Amino acid sequence: MILVTGGAGFIGANFILDWLRLFDEPVLNLDKLTYAGNPESLASLAGDARHVLVQGDIGDRALVARLLATHRPRAVLNFAAESHVDRSIHGPEDFIQTNVVGTFHLLEEARAYWQGLPAAEQAAFRFLHVSTDEVYGSLGPDDAPFTETTPYAPNSPYSASKAASDHLVRAYHHTYGLPVLTTNCSNNYGPLQFPEKLIPLMILNATRGLPLPIYGDGMNVRDWLYVSDHCAAIRAVLARGRPGETYNVGGWNEMPNLDIVKTVCALLDEMRPDPAGPHARLITYVKDRPGHDRRYAIDARKIDRELGWKPAETFDTGIRKTVRWYLDNPGWVERVASGEYRTWLNTNYAGRGAQ
Ligand code: NAD
Ligand code: DAU
Repeated sequence: MILVTGGAGFIGANFILDWLRLFDEPVLNLDKLTYAGNPESLASLAGDARHVLVQGDIGDRALVARLLATHRPRAVLNFAAESHVDRSIHGPEDFIQTNVVGTFHLLEEARAYWQGLPAAEQAAFRFLHVSTDEVYGSLGPDDAPFTETTPYAPNSPYSASKAASDHLVRAYHHTYGLPVLTTNCSNNYGPLQFPEKLIPLMILNATRGLPLPIYGDGMNVRDWLYVSDHCAAIRAVLARGRPGETYNVGGWNEMPNLDIVKTVCALLDEMRPDPAGPHARLITYVKDRPGHDRRYAIDARKIDRELGWKPAETFDTGIRKTVRWYLDNPGWVERVASGEYRTWLNTNYAGRGAQ
């Protein structure tokens, strides 16, 4: 079996659903169930003995030690993190606790467990750390995309905390020989993403006739990847990646934020026309994110060359499925968009004003 942390979040939940569609190997899911963790995303697995959700913190060493000793996973896949840049600007503490200290505690317990395994199991064991392209910092318009050897230059508390965790993971390989793998992926989108992130926020606001807040001039560039492609990349790295290596994962799909939002608006015009007019009328320029990275782009040739992975979805196919999914799942959206979410919208957007 495998231990997945953060499996009730966006990418973790997609990963588990895909995994159990493909394989019968059970998944133990350790998730703290923060605001971003949503067991409802895994509701289709109710009654499926191959998935067990344990509510808990990756930083709880006693709990992690007990789970490892009891379930004896062949791999730990660490998705758990505080993941939203804007939240890290408003309150970095949780990012340090989970992304840095939590990963450190998880590594310590994984190392102790791994060291106690019989030789064959020890050799087969993997610790896969799911990380981000944001650790590389920001690119200029003509810079080459990030490769695995681009120096780290994180600019937000979020990316700094992920960079710190990547360094710890690397050190546990170099120092102790723990068979680690790290993936650094670009922006994901798709079903089950919490609507604090650009694409689901825009879908939700547009369907409600609310402003579509574009930070700054809207020309910041991200490299978008459909979530199931990221999950496939993680499976490839787990199966065939070389311990101690890092793999960049990206969609070969750089787009400015404004184009993303206009695409979402056009799809909504087609799928759910608004009698009040085109959804793009709601686009509103607001105060920029402090320290806003201008451009991310991933050179994903290593994972293609060495492991045979490349994205299956184009942006056109992926964004169409995504908008459709949000329109078809109003119950999921309604429930995640209540309570804490409203407080967050007030915290993040009230002070920005229209530009
Ligand atoms: P998410 O915020 O949707 O989910 C994070 C999950 O981790 C939640 O279920 C949350 O409850 C859980 N969690 C948080 N703190 C925890 C703790 N201390 N112990 C146990 N569980 C905890 O995040 P996501 O978008 O699914 O991202 C998953 C991983 O992928 C993160 O490590 C993130 O840095 C990385 N990543 C994300 C993207 C992206 O575009 N979303 C891109 C590249 C890499
Ligand atoms: O690059 C990978 C990273 O992508 C992951 O590591 C992070 O976990 C994930 O959150 C994401 O980070 P970003 O900051 O790029 O994603 P976000 O969806 O928050 O923002 C995408 C772009 O859209 C960014 O340039 C900021 C802009 N934006 C975002 C929001 C929420 C807006 O213009 N308006 C908004 O309201």
